[in-house]
Amino acid sequence: MANSQQINLQVNLPAKVAHHYPIVIEPELLTNWQNWIKDYADTKKVIIISDDNVAKLYGQNFYAELSAAGYQCQLLDFEAGEASKSASTKLELEEKMFAFGCDRHTLCVALGGGVVGDLAGFTAATYMRGMNYIQIPTSLLAMIDSSVGGKTAVNTSYGKNIIGAFWQPRAVIMDTELLKTLPREQVINGFFEAIKIFLTLDAEQFNFCCTNLIAILNLEHTPLVQMISQAVALKAHVVEVDEQEQNLRMILNFGHTVAHAIEKLSNYKVLHGYAVAIGMLVEAKIAEISGLLSSADYKKIADFLAELEITPKLLAGYQVSELISAMRGDKKNKNQEIVLVLLAGIGQVKNIDNKVAFNVDEKVIEAAFNTLLV
Ligand SMILES: NC(=O)c1ccc[n+]([C@@H]2O[C@H](COP(=O)([O-])OP(=O)(O)OC[C@H]3O[C@@H](n4cnc5c(N)ncnc54)[C@H](O)[C@@H]3O)[C@@H](O)[C@H]2O)c1
Repeated sequence: MANSQQINLQVNLPAKVAHHYPIVIEPELLTNWQNWIKDYADTKKVIIISDDNVAKLYGQNFYAELSAAGYQCQLLDFEAGEASKSASTKLELEEKMFAFGCDRHTLCVALGGGVVGDLAGFTAATYMRGMNYIQIPTSLLAMIDSSVGGKTAVNTSYGKNIIGAFWQPRAVIMDTELLKTLPREQVINGFFEAIKIFLTLDAEQFNFCCTNLIAILNLEHTPLVQMISQAVALKAHVVEVDEQEQNLRMILNFGHTVAHAIEKLSNYKVLHGYAVAIGMLVEAKIAEISGLLSSADYKKIADFLAELEITPKLLAGYQVSELISAMRGDKKNKNQEIVLVLLAGIGQVKNIDNKVAFNVDEKVIEAAFNTLLV
């Protein structure tokens, strides 16, 4: 190398282009698709990606109506369930999209729960290096959480969501009518993600959920829309401040370190939102033991979760040592030290200059599990 002259060039990209997109929440948006589709479709070519449940319930009709209106349209569906969120399903979708002649201007519509949103979003992110897509979330979890924020991914044998991209949609269309066919267990599953957001950021909305619990779970329009819109507004704010999860976005991981351990140890039999709910109970206890959360606030949280049948009994059958060992494998950790988001009250977390995740001594975690397991 001594004789060679080193040439140094530089690529100077402009600051990232701002990206705005609307999130619309209203009943019957899917039926009234004529009112909004032209805002997002640059051509008359539309690809709808769905799972087989949602395709039967809504996708086939949407496809038929778009086709009748002159759109060149195709509905691609795959078997419902987390197992389909894989590189192999993505490849199958891509092959069908090429066969159909999709280009990057084709509008891709992700119509379904979080599995569809993550998989279709990641497919859109990489198809010809990125195509337009919109999210039409059909599960409560997808409305509150996965459709907003642009995280897209597939699972691999090495872990969940570990191959993916940040790829923001052009719009998120939330038709609350679609929730009427969602099984109640799935409604509660999604509701827990809203509770997570309120417990970390908004005490008033948490209290609203306590007061209106039954009405929300019965999908009564006014409280349901208030709960969804407030949760989504808070999530959107967090994503605006920290799209790439460098600091504040970590707040959305409250309850998740324990949840990931429970999901792994139960072989993913426990639904994600329920695992997060158990995680919130344990992580709130850790905050209480750490002197950050008052016992009165801990009790209020535990009583609320108990109304939804989330109690320490759900931890029976797990060994504390295996739970802690599984927690050590969490993506947020550094050097195998367990990092947690810690409540500092209802609606607030320990936050130092937007840093919201902190190392916690394993003895404190062990004490929390042992207290709950007696
Ligand atoms: N990208 C993110 O930021 C983010 C955030 C949270 C979760 N996720 C991901 O979301 C996924 C979980 O999402 P999910 O809970 O929506 O699961 P899901 O997509 O598997 O949907 C749950 C079940 O409900 C059915 N369903 C959906 N909408 C329906 C409707 N309106 N009527 C009747 N049945 C309906 C589906 O067919 C499925 O059987 C996980 O893969 C998770 O990793 C992503």
